[in-house]
Amino acid sequence: MGGLVNAATAALTPTHRMTLPAATVPAHVAIIMDGNGRWAKNRGLPRIEGHRRGVETVRTTTFAARDLGVKMLTLYAFSIENWKRPPEEVNALMGLLEFYLKQELATFVRDRVRLRTIGRTDELPAGVQKVLRTTIEETKQFTDYTLVLALNYGSRTEIVDAARAYAAAVAAGKEKLNDGSWTTFSRYLYTADMPEPDLVIRTSGETRISNFLLLQAAYAEFVFTPVLWPDFTKADLAAAIADYNRRERRFGLTSEQLVNPARAGAK
Ligand code: FPP
Repeated sequence: MGGLVNAATAALTPTHRMTLPAATVPAHVAIIMDGNGRWAKNRGLPRIEGHRRGVETVRTTTFAARDLGVKMLTLYAFSIENWKRPPEEVNALMGLLEFYLKQELATFVRDRVRLRTIGRTDELPAGVQKVLRTTIEETKQFTDYTLVLALNYGSRTEIVDAARAYAAAVAAGKEKLNDGSWTTFSRYLYTADMPEPDLVIRTSGETRISNFLLLQAAYAEFVFTPVLWPDFTKADLAAAIADYNRRERRFGLTSEQLVNPARAGAK
């Protein structure tokens, strides 16, 4: 209970003094970054300006999450459906991504941030793939904090890719079809060795999941904030975490079983 009060209070304190007790911090936070276009439109600016400001928020949020004690941050940076946007916007997003990665490499190394990706990254432009490979390689030894970029990601495609890989493993005799449990199947998802998200945040007031981590977020808590992504701050992240702390995560059990785990039946 103390953690809950502390977390709620932390959300109201000035950014530089903001810390949350470890027990209250979700280990894995995933964010659907939305509202770049509206942010720009509200100011009479081209959409790309919103994305440019969105990249700044990616930067600040990466370090804000780590400061607050989060261990893994997953950002939905480019969905499979985003290819359908006007080509100039797609090109601008890819350019921004490449520029961002090139700029951040030194910072990631200095601050021990591991970079990973989920999604069909082999379909991204060659320049983006190259800088991704370099950054992933040069940060793979860091274990304290991981930034995961969902790039050319879509949950349904991920499930199809996993089913195909699983079927191939069965055909090759590496898996037995009858052993097909969730634990086995989940090893074929892009997220195979990642923890599931505890908290999923979506900015901009939309309340959809948009093909993001559909299976992995099965037991996640969701926080929807009206704040547009370029305006999202460390205080907004802390407020979302405080909201998360007001929820009771039951994983299918009753409240009584959570208080007294001995009463939870095994299956
Ligand atoms: C949604 O805003 C945002 C995206 C399409 C993806 C997010 C992209 C960035 C933050 C920039 C590039 C990312 C990295 C990691 C460098 P929207 O355009 O859908 O906004 P709208 O709904 O207001 O139009």
